[in-house]
Amino acid sequence: MLENNNSIILGIETSCDDTSVAVLADGNKILSNLISSQITIHEKFGGVVPEVASRKHLESINPLIDLALKESEVSFNEIDGIAVTYGPGLVGSLLVGVACAKALSFALEKPLLPVNHILAHIYANFLLPERPQLPLLALVVSGGHTSLVLMEEHLKPQLIGQTRDDAAGEAYDKTARALKLGYPGGPIIDRLAGEGNPDKINFPRANLGKGREFDFSFSGLKSSVLNHINQAKMKNEVINVEDLSASFQAAVVEVLIDKTIKAKDHYNIKNVVLAGGVAANSTLRLKMKESVEKNQGNFYCPPLKLCTDNAAMVACVGHFLYRQGIRGSFDLNAVPGLVLGQT
Ligand code: KG4
Ligand code: ZN
Repeated sequence: MLENNNSIILGIETSCDDTSVAVLADGNKILSNLISSQITIHEKFGGVVPEVASRKHLESINPLIDLALKESEVSFNEIDGIAVTYGPGLVGSLLVGVACAKALSFALEKPLLPVNHILAHIYANFLLPERPQLPLLALVVSGGHTSLVLMEEHLKPQLIGQTRDDAAGEAYDKTARALKLGYPGGPIIDRLAGEGNPDKINFPRANLGKGREFDFSFSGLKSSVLNHINQAKMKNEVINVEDLSASFQAAVVEVLIDKTIKAKDHYNIKNVVLAGGVAANSTLRLKMKESVEKNQGNFYCPPLKLCTDNAAMVACVGHFLYRQGIRGSFDLNAVPGLVLGQT
């Protein structure tokens, strides 16, 4: 463990369809956090095309590194370590970041810091001016994951629950796709839901019974939404997308909050953090804050830009790895199915 808190970490994130490079000082001063989004390319296909994503990462990564260093007025020599997401994610996309970080680490003779993407989402909360104290409970809700995580010590997450099928973000994206609203579906449904009636359609809330209290399931909800759309089509009825979005969102948010509060009580944890792309959801942020505070807890969630994929959160985990003397080696590989807690 290093004595002081000083560090300058270069963060690299290429796990899905955003290329991002950040420079982070002392664990929470963002000097630069550049994100090159590929949304306009993938939206034509209604979702991420892995082959296209990796090629785009390849084109964007080097110019972004140059820009991030320029913006932060930091030279390669001043960097203490290179943090990179090595999983979970799309293998071709991850490989671009991992290869780039290894090359930099080798050429500059600086430590390589391998980062788990899910952990990075949680660490976006440590970029807040007021950092959460440990122990904490994190609800990670993204396009690929829905997990409840307990963290008593830094870098030691314990998975206490997860989705048995679809992730929350995936349910948003699939619902939006069925309604032909565009990609990614989360922000679009979030906006439409604000204009609809959440009590209009009573979509199912899945509870998985004893021993699975902290697990989630969204496939029943997805099927119910699809049935609703198909039945309306068969009867030639016009679908009110605002009401459907609001009712769908109410079902997702209610389950997420209910399980988080139950876990908070069960493990007797005061600090609750929200993480991942779906943490950008306006209703989830508002209602989770209300519920946590009503239950004598402290609630944290990252600003919107730090909820979705970005390299500042990767550099933040990198800072803690660097301080604890944890280093990656040059045989580091992309691990598409990396689980939380696995190093
Ligand atoms: O964390 P993220 O950027 O990528 C993954 O690691 O998966 O999360 C992307 C997911 C997508 O499913 C997207 O629809 C969802 O986050 N999302 C939202 C909102 N903004 C993004 N879901 C609900 N409401 C939002 N405002
Ligand atoms: Zn993510």
